Amino acid sequence: MTGRLNDKVALVTGAGSIAPGWGNGKATAVLFAREGAKVFAVDKNPEAAEETQALIAGEGGTGTAHQTDVTENEQVEAMVEACLKAFGRIDILHNNVGGSVPGGPVDMPEDVWDEQIAYNLKSVFLTCKHVIPVMERQGGGAIVNVSSLAGLRHTGHYHAAYEAAKAGMMHFTRTLAVEYGPKNIRANTVVPGHVFTPLVEHRLAKQYRGGDLDNLIEERSRDIPMGRMGDAWDVAYAALYLASDEAKNATGIEIIVDGGVTAKCD
Ligand SMILES: NC(=O)c1ccc[n+]([C@@H]2O[C@H](COP(=O)([O-])OP(=O)(O)OC[C@H]3O[C@@H](n4cnc5c(N)ncnc54)[C@H](O)[C@@H]3O)[C@@H](O)[C@H]2O)c1
Repeated sequence: MTGRLNDKVALVTGAGSIAPGWGNGKATAVLFAREGAKVFAVDKNPEAAEETQALIAGEGGTGTAHQTDVTENEQVEAMVEACLKAFGRIDILHNNVGGSVPGGPVDMPEDVWDEQIAYNLKSVFLTCKHVIPVMERQGGGAIVNVSSLAGLRHTGHYHAAYEAAKAGMMHFTRTLAVEYGPKNIRANTVVPGHVFTPLVEHRLAKQYRGGDLDNLIEERSRDIPMGRMGDAWDVAYAALYLASDEAKNATGIEIIVDGGVTAKCD
């Protein structure tokens, strides 16, 4: 531990993992705590948040588990109040919640589209709605949002609502950076490519390959110049930089962590 986030309070959404192993939010919450942050670990699934909190406590860090569905305005407002009650401030807002459902305009029911936009985009709007005034009062803060390669490129998996929402999130983040720069609030995005999180086995292998995990791993790795998927720590370390004061002049940017996929042309 090098104390890169000493004296900071970090609110991490989706701080658990959908299944055993390291999801992006879980690794980020634990890494932030290792670097000295007090972590307010938020998840819709209370056991997932508590598991992350226990991991943090087990390493001697400081964390609190909190159940919230970040697509619900009143719950998000209460979440921010609970974080302030627990730790007195919010220096870092890390928006990690998100996920895809396959389909496009012809086959995707309207309610699924609406749910996807709420899950991947409105959730970020809501957390920012309630956290930014806190950061303004404090004189600054750092917002780190987790988008996806799918928000930059069509990867071949057709999940149009997810792609639109993740693209929207990136530009929403840039507008925050410009609007709130004068208030010393930075806003940036981490853009993961294919990441080998528990989600890949738990949901994506069924969603895209009838449960054939090996086939999905092979397909997800094949076109990556680095030859393999990333892991949750790749996302966590990029988020750590953007959340820390080392990134004091970095705002309105994206850090792409994709093993070179977006640099490729074929
Ligand atoms: N895994 C990948 O390959 C990959 C690639 C690119 C981007 N991403 C992005 O990374 C992020 C995290 O991915 P992951 O694979 O770690 O996810 P994950 O599915 O493991 O989810 C993390 C946690 O979010 C929680 N959650 C779900 N809905 C919630 C809600 N409404 N409110 C609060 N918590 C909620 C879940 O309970 C889970 O514990 C997502 O935004 C995803 O789009 C993932």
